[in-house]
Amino acid sequence: MSTVQTKIETASRSLGYRKFSAGQFTFERDEYFAHILYPGGRHLIPIDAYLRSLMRDVAWGFFYGTVNFDTLFGTINRYGTVDMFVGLLNEAYYSANRHYVETFNSRQLRKVFMEMLEDWTNQGFDPFAAPDETGVPFGPKQGSNSKAIHRERMVAKRMVGLPGDLPYRSDATGETVNRQFTDVPQDKPEVYAEPGFENEVHAFNMFAYVSRSDVTWNPSVVSCVRDSQFCCTTEEHILPITHGNDRVEWFIQATDEIIWDIDDGKTGRPRAKVIMKAGDVAAMPADVRHRGYSPKRSMLIVWENNDGTLPQRYAAGELKPYPVEF
Ligand code: PHB
Ligand code: FE
Repeated sequence: MSTVQTKIETASRSLGYRKFSAGQFTFERDEYFAHILYPGGRHLIPIDAYLRSLMRDVAWGFFYGTVNFDTLFGTINRYGTVDMFVGLLNEAYYSANRHYVETFNSRQLRKVFMEMLEDWTNQGFDPFAAPDETGVPFGPKQGSNSKAIHRERMVAKRMVGLPGDLPYRSDATGETVNRQFTDVPQDKPEVYAEPGFENEVHAFNMFAYVSRSDVTWNPSVVSCVRDSQFCCTTEEHILPITHGNDRVEWFIQATDEIIWDIDDGKTGRPRAKVIMKAGDVAAMPADVRHRGYSPKRSMLIVWENNDGTLPQRYAAGELKPYPVEF
C-alpha cells in the first residue's frame, strides 16, 4: 500500500510567492507550477495554464456550471456557493473514490483566488493575452501586473460612439487593430439621420470594433436583453478552461476557424471533435464540456441564456440536454 506524499519543498525555497489556503486546500507556486494540496493528494498544473484559467474563473464570477482548469481540478458554480474539486469529474478518480470536493461561499473563494492571481502574476505577463503577445510567467517573483488583471468591463449608456457615451475604439484611444486582424475591413456604416435626430441614430462596424480587442477567450463585447447574453469574443491559441455548462449555449463562428474538443461533462470521456468555420452555428449541449483551439485569431459569438431556473431543469431531466430534435 502506498501513502500519498503531501509535503512539498517549494515553501522553503523563498521564491517570493505567497502560499494560499481555502478550507483544506493549499496552493503554492514555484518557477513552473501551481501546486494544489488537498486531503489525500496533491496536483500540479503548469503555471501559465493555471494563471490563464484562474484569471477567467475570477473575471467571470465562476461562470456558468463547471470551469475545469484541466482534467482534475476545477470549480462548479452553485450561484452563491461554489464547489472546488479535484477528480470529481474524472471517471477514474471518482470511481476509485480518490476525488475531493469542498463547498465555499463564492465571494470568499473569489477573494482568495483574486489575491493569488495578484501575487502570482509577474510583471510582463498578461493572463488574458495570446501567448505570442505577452511575456512569460515563469521564474521567481518579479513585480506584478495589476493593470492586466483588473480590467473592468465598460458599460455603454446607450451605444458606444454616441455623443456623451463611451468612445469608439480607435488608434487615438490606443486600441489598434490586432496584428492578426489586419484583413478585417475598417469601413464605417453610412448613417443618414433625419434632421434633429443626429444624436439619436448611430451605427458602427462590429467586426472593426472587435478587431481592436486586446484580450483572448473572454466575452468582450456583450449585449444583454433580459436573459439573452450575446457575447462576441476574440480567440487565439487555446481556451484556458474546459467549460461544462449547466445549460445549452450557442456558438456562431464569425470569422476564421476554431476546433473544439467535446467531452462528456461528468466523466470527461471524449464525445466529438467539432470544426467550426466562419458562418457555422452550433449548439453546445448541457451535458458536455468543451475546449476550443483557434490556430489563428478568430471571432466567435457565444450566446448564453441567463435564466437562473435552467440548471435545475436540465439536472432534473425536465429539459433535454440539446435544444432541437431533427
Ligand atoms: C465557453 O466556454 O463557451 C467560452 C468561453 C469563453 C470564450 C469562448 C467560449 O471566449
Ligand atoms: Fe461554454
